Order: sequence, then structure tokens, then C-alpha cells
Amino acid sequence: MPQSVIDDLVLRANGGEAPSEDAEEEAGDLAAPVNLPSKLRGEVVVVIGVGGMGELIARRQGTGKRLLIADFSQDALDRVRTALRGDGYDVTDRKVDVSSRESMAALAAEAAALGPVFQVIHTAGLSPVQASAAAITAVDLVGVANMLEEFAAVVEAGGAGLVISSMAGYGIDLTQQDEEALANDDPASLAQLPFISALTDPGAAYGYAKRGNILRVEAASVAWGRRGARVNSISPGVIATPLGQQELNGEHGDVMRAMIESSGAGRLGTPNDIADAAAFLLGPTASFITGTDLLVDGGVVGARSAS
Ligand SMILES: NC(=O)c1ccc[n+]([C@@H]2O[C@H](COP(=O)([O-])OP(=O)(O)OC[C@H]3O[C@@H](n4cnc5c(N)ncnc54)[C@H](O)[C@@H]3O)[C@@H](O)[C@H]2O)c1
Repeated sequence: MPQSVIDDLVLRANGGEAPSEDAEEEAGDLAAPVNLPSKLRGEVVVVIGVGGMGELIARRQGTGKRLLIADFSQDALDRVRTALRGDGYDVTDRKVDVSSRESMAALAAEAAALGPVFQVIHTAGLSPVQASAAAITAVDLVGVANMLEEFAAVVEAGGAGLVISSMAGYGIDLTQQDEEALANDDPASLAQLPFISALTDPGAAYGYAKRGNILRVEAASVAWGRRGARVNSISPGVIATPLGQQELNGEHGDVMRAMIESSGAGRLGTPNDIADAAAFLLGPTASFITGTDLLVDGGVVGARSAS
């Protein structure tokens, strides 16, 4: 007879067999967290990118759900999967390169195989201090377009998608023709658009990619709507994740600090600020909101207009 609830869970995880002495020896003193999938064929929540924002959003949106976390970094996946399982989440992980349509299609197929896909949150991204203009275009612009296409085919009626864009997408002036291309062209051809392929400065590529995310989400809301699902974006200001801290320590750190000083909120954002906004946009009280961007920047863009 199991001695405790934990013993019972371990017994069930072993298919009703008590673990052998060898298995116990292999496990050592620190047993791996038990992944105990819900008995219900629960709603699937997919979080793409498990950095500073992604992990917190996974925690907020994943309770009682079947979580599928995806990232390019296997180290990040191992760390977050172990932490989430330790905290009782039902979580599966999959390595993905969002810039590859095939990789994104495989992720969407795995999500659909796990159960009905109700939420997809795309936080994967590269910042200007981390990568070249070409890499930023591939991951931040093409990656989001890949997600919007592939998950539009599997999201359930009543489901919702969310893309993390950036306040850097505000103030990018484009012709109507260029906006239409960013919104609607095939993902595979976006990097070849002349005004995109000409970009060499990573900061500029980041701004265009994030503007592209907002336009793409607006347009994708029609296809997602045909499925009975919604999709929105959030444009964060400077958020105190490792990525945000790296930006603040980079060559434009002083400019960013001055922007924060002059803003209405006058402080850095926290990952919680973004997770709260995400919970609202993904949840039932936002059922009339789709194809829109929520600027969560502490008032930095507003202060720019006021100056
Ligand atoms: N932190 C900020 O200040 C800030 C501000 C505005 C916007 N954003 C945006 O928010 C999003 C999340 O930012 P964060 O602060 O959590 O960043 P983060 O660096 O902590 O997380 C980003 C994750 O994306 C993953 N990733 C990178 N390339 C990938 C690829 N090709 N395929 C799959 N995964 C890949 C990384 O491995 C990382 O785990 C990013 O899109 C970022 O541009 C961040």
C-alpha cells in the first residue's frame, strides 16, 4: 500500500509497479519531478520562447492545462520544464526554430496531437544586442508570420493567440504598399522584400520586424476569426528580463534610461506587467478584442509624442 500521496503518484507514474531498487539507485536522492498528465483531455496551451516573459506567461496560463513549451535553446527548455514539473504543471517540451516553417509546422502538429489547442503565446525573439539584422528578420519577423500561419490551422474555436511585439514597432513609417506586403506576403518571401533585405543595422531590423508583427496580427485576425479564435499582440516597453537588462547595458542604455525617466510610469516594466496584460487578452473578458496591439510601455511612446 502506498505510504503517502507522493508514493501514490510515483506508483502511478511507474504504471502501478513499485520502482525497482536499480531505478531508485539511478534516480539518486533527488528524484526527477513527476509529470502526471491530467486525466482529462485538457486544453493545450503552447508557449513559444521560454525566456523571461515566456516562463512567467507559461506559469500564469498553464495551471490545469496541458502545457507545450518550445524554444531554440534546449538548455532553456530543460531548465523551465524541470522547474514547471516541480511545481506540478503538466508540461511537454519541444525544440523549435521559429524561423523555419517546417519546424513551426511540426510544433503545431505536436500541439494538436496533445489535445485541443486553446492558447498560443509567441514570445521567442532576438534583440538588437544579440544578433545581426538578418537573424533578427528571420526570427522576429518571419518567425511570427510562421506561427500565425501554422497555428491558424489548428487553433480551436474559442481559442486565442498572442504575439509579443515591442514598442520599437511604434514610429516606423512605411508606405501603404510596404505595410500591405508585411501584413500579407508569404512568410518565406518577407526577408526578400527590398526595404527589409536592405537593413543592416540590427536596431532598425528589430523595429521593422516588430512593426511587421503588429500588421501581421491585424491581418491574421481574419483567418483566426474564421476558426472562431482571436489573435492579438502586446508591445512591451523596457522589461526587466535578462534581454531587457542586456539592452540597458548595451550602447543605447543611456537613451533607454532617459526614455524611462521621461515616461508617465517612470519605471522599468516587470515580466508580471506583461503576464497580466497577456492574461487579459487571452481570457474571456477580451472576447471582443482581436487583431489589435496593446502597448504596455509605461507611457514611453506617449511621452515621445508629448515632447
Ligand atoms: N525584455 C524587454 O525589454 C522587451 C521589450 C520589448 C519587447 N520584447 C520582446 O519580448 C519577447 C520576449 O522577450 P524576453 O525578454 O522574454 O526575451 P528572452 O531573451 O528572455 O527570451 C526569448 C527566447 O526566445 C528564444 N529564441 C531565440 N531565437 C529563437 C528561435 N529561432 N526559435 C525559437 N526560440 C528562439 C530564446 O532562446 C529565448 O529563450 C521578445 O520577442 C522580445 O523582442 C522584450
